[in-house]
Amino acid sequence: MQKTKAIILAGGSGSRLYPLTSIMSKQLQPVYDKPMIYYPLATLMLAGIQDILIITTPHDAPHFHQLLKDGSQWGISIQYVEQAAPKGIAEAFLYGKEFIGNDQVCLILGDNLFYGKLDFLRQAIANNQGATIFGYPVQDPERYGVVEFNADGSVISIEEKPKTPKSQYAIPGLYVFNNEVISIAEQLQPSQRGELEITDVQNVYLQRKQLQVEKMGRGIAWLDTGTPESLLEAGEFIHAIEKRQNLKIACLEEIALRMNFIDMKRYERLLETLPHSSYREYCNRVLQEYLPS
Ligand code: TTP
Repeated sequence: MQKTKAIILAGGSGSRLYPLTSIMSKQLQPVYDKPMIYYPLATLMLAGIQDILIITTPHDAPHFHQLLKDGSQWGISIQYVEQAAPKGIAEAFLYGKEFIGNDQVCLILGDNLFYGKLDFLRQAIANNQGATIFGYPVQDPERYGVVEFNADGSVISIEEKPKTPKSQYAIPGLYVFNNEVISIAEQLQPSQRGELEITDVQNVYLQRKQLQVEKMGRGIAWLDTGTPESLLEAGEFIHAIEKRQNLKIACLEEIALRMNFIDMKRYERLLETLPHSSYREYCNRVLQEYLPS
């Protein structure tokens, strides 16, 4: 299988979250008990990806470093690059060119949360030929890229924030691309709003008949956190599930252990570095499961 790297796009202006974002970027804001970026990072780790690039604003880069370091504590590698100005999602492939090298790449937006069985992502990574994106039914597709399907399920069009959406299927901020994405991004022209659009990248793959759109089932919750209300709702969602199950979502230490990115010894040493908190208690509880009885 081809090696897969991943990019978390965590720059942007976060203007809809003003004044929250006037001193700290959106992806560092809390979603209940963790910084937002923990969730997309967890999604990637659970899909088996260990080589990750985080694209940040120049202003927030030091905070991301401080929070996530080089990833080795979780058995992964995290590199960072600063996007000079928020000139579009597809810029990720220009900033990420060197990092991607000759591999295929999974891109996740830093404000997109996925909860549920992640088989769909592992399959997409394993089977991707050109580009694989997803379709998720929502009430307000006009806020997103929208995919239009034929009666036979094949894709007819992809439109960015259409005034009259041709379907209910929005495209979540999680995509898998083969290596050609770099040269495609290099040839893009900025849109009317001055951005390199991810929908334009998808449309190139569509024209080449290399675009796969998988419908995401009801078993997956997809939340984005771009507005004060959706940020609050995401926090409430995580809180409700964590409280009910007495388990944590996106506990990176736990995921590193369960994915065998680190062994039990390293996990124990890692826990010793955590401040005394309910988070550390939870990590300790996970450890008890692993200890021979
Ligand atoms: P958006 O939510 O579209 O934009 P934003 O985060 O700047 O917020 P707002 O619209 O409120 O001003 O961005 C989606 C994700 O992509 C988010 O995680 C930020 C990231 N992003 C970048 O990192 N660079 C960019 O150039 C753009 C457009 C987005």
